[in-house]
Amino acid sequence: MSVISVLAARRAESIGNHVSIQGWIRTRRDSKGGFSFLEVNDGSCMGNIQVIADQSLENYEDEIKKLTAGCSVTVVGEVKESQGKQATEVHAASVAVHGWADPEEFPLQKKRHSFEKLREWAHLRPRTNTFGAVARVRNCICRSIHNFYQERDFLYVHTPIITASDCEGAGELFRVTTLDMEDPPRQNGRIDYALDFFDRPSFLTVSGQLEAEIYATALGKVYTFGPTFRAENSNTSRHLAEFWMVEPEVAFCDLDGNMDLAESFLKRIFRDVLEQCPEDMQFFNDRIEKTTIETLTAIVDSDFERVPYTEAIDILEQCGKQFDFPVTWGSDLQSEHERFLTEEHFGKPVILFDYPRTIKPFYMRVNDDEKTVRAMDVLVPKVGEIIGGSQREERLDVLESRMVEQELQPEEYWWYLDLRRFGTTPHAGFGLGLERAVQFVTGMANIRDVIPFPRTPGNAEF
Ligand code: 4AD
Ligand code: MG
Repeated sequence: MSVISVLAARRAESIGNHVSIQGWIRTRRDSKGGFSFLEVNDGSCMGNIQVIADQSLENYEDEIKKLTAGCSVTVVGEVKESQGKQATEVHAASVAVHGWADPEEFPLQKKRHSFEKLREWAHLRPRTNTFGAVARVRNCICRSIHNFYQERDFLYVHTPIITASDCEGAGELFRVTTLDMEDPPRQNGRIDYALDFFDRPSFLTVSGQLEAEIYATALGKVYTFGPTFRAENSNTSRHLAEFWMVEPEVAFCDLDGNMDLAESFLKRIFRDVLEQCPEDMQFFNDRIEKTTIETLTAIVDSDFERVPYTEAIDILEQCGKQFDFPVTWGSDLQSEHERFLTEEHFGKPVILFDYPRTIKPFYMRVNDDEKTVRAMDVLVPKVGEIIGGSQREERLDVLESRMVEQELQPEEYWWYLDLRRFGTTPHAGFGLGLERAVQFVTGMANIRDVIPFPRTPGNAEF
C-alpha cells in the first residue's frame, strides 16, 4: 500500500486503489447512520479528500469522534467513487491519530481570520486555504522562472549575498559586521571597519546585478535568483526589507531586446500559473480579486504598451486628474502616476523607458540626448512597478563620469570598470521582484501575505 497525496486521491484514476493518506483534519461531521465524514487536507492541493470512517473502526468512539480541525492523521482505506460533489472519497479501514489540536486553544478553529491577524501566526497560516494557495502559486512561478531561462540556455549563476557595493546607490543597506557594537574600534572618532570581518564596510546585497554583469560579459546569457535586502523604512503594501529578485543579464543585448525578454518572461509566468494552478487561481478569482483570471488571460494574448518617460509625463500632465504628488519632467513617478498609466490610461501592462539620468543609477546607458538613460520599468495594474532594468553603460569614459556625477569612487568599482576595459559589449538586464509577481498573479493586496515570513520595519519574529 502506498502513501498518496490528496491531489492524487481526488482523481478518478485512483478509484479502486487501497491507499494511505496523511494530513490534517479540516472538519468532522458525524452522521446518524453510525459513521463520520472527515475532511482531510495535506497541502498538495486546495481541496480536501472526504474520508468515511465507520463506527466499526476500533478507535471510533475514543478517537475518531473526537477529531477536530488541525489534528494530524494517517488514513488507510479504499478510494471509491463519491456520490457527492467530488469525484472520489476514501472508505477508511483505519484512522491513526498522530497529534491532537485542542479546539479551545487552536487559533484556526474559528473559520475566518483577517490577514492582519494571520500575520501574527506566521507559523500556522500556511494551514489556511489562502496561504496554502499562495505557497503553491509562488512555487509554480519559481519553477516557471527557471524553466523559462533554462530553455533559453541562460546560465543560473549565484551572486553573493554579502557585498561591499551599493548597486542601486540609494543607500538602503543593511550592514553586516562582527565588530562589538557596544565598543567598536575607532579611528579619528569614526568606527574603523578596516578591523571588521571583511576588512571593509560590508552589507547585505540590494541586487545581484553587478556580479551578474561579470558573468554575462564572459558567458553571454545568465540569470541570478535570490534574496535581496533593502533597509528602506517604508511601510507600504508593496515593499519588503527582504525580497526575492530574479535578474537576467544578456551580453550583446540592447534596450529593445531587454523589453522583448521582459515581456515574454512575464507572459510565460502568467500562462504557466493559469495552466498549472487552475484550482488555486479559481480560489483567488472567487475570494480575493474578481478579475485576476480575466486580467492574466488578456495580458497573455496582447502586447505591452511601450512608452518613453517624456511621453508619459505629457499624458499625466494633460489627463486632468488631481494627483497627490505633482508631475514634472525630471522627477520620479509615484505609484499613483504609474497606476493611472497602466490601469486607467492604457488598461494593460506598460513599459516606460528613457528616464531622466538624474533619477536613475550610474550604470544605465546615457542616450545621445545626454538627458535621459536607457532605463525601463514594467508597470502592471494594481501593483505598479514589477520590473526595473536597463541597457548598461558599456563606454568606459562615460561610465566613469557618471560615477563621479553620482559621487561614487570609481576606484572602488575597479573590477566593474574592467568589464569595459577588456572586450566591452553592449549588454542589458532587469530585475523582477518575485513577491510583486506573486501579488499581481494572485491579487493579494498586501505583499506581506505572499512571502512566508515577511521582513518589514519592526517585524522579524518568525
Ligand atoms: O528597480 P530595482 O531597484 O532594480 C534593480 O535592483 C536592478 N539592479 C535590477 C536589474 O537591472 N538587474 O528593483 C527591481 C524590482 C522592482 O521592479 C520590484 O519589482 C522589486 O525589484 N523590488 C521590491 N520588491 C519588494 N520590496 C522592495 N522593497 C522592492 N524593491 C524593489
Ligand atoms: Mg525600480
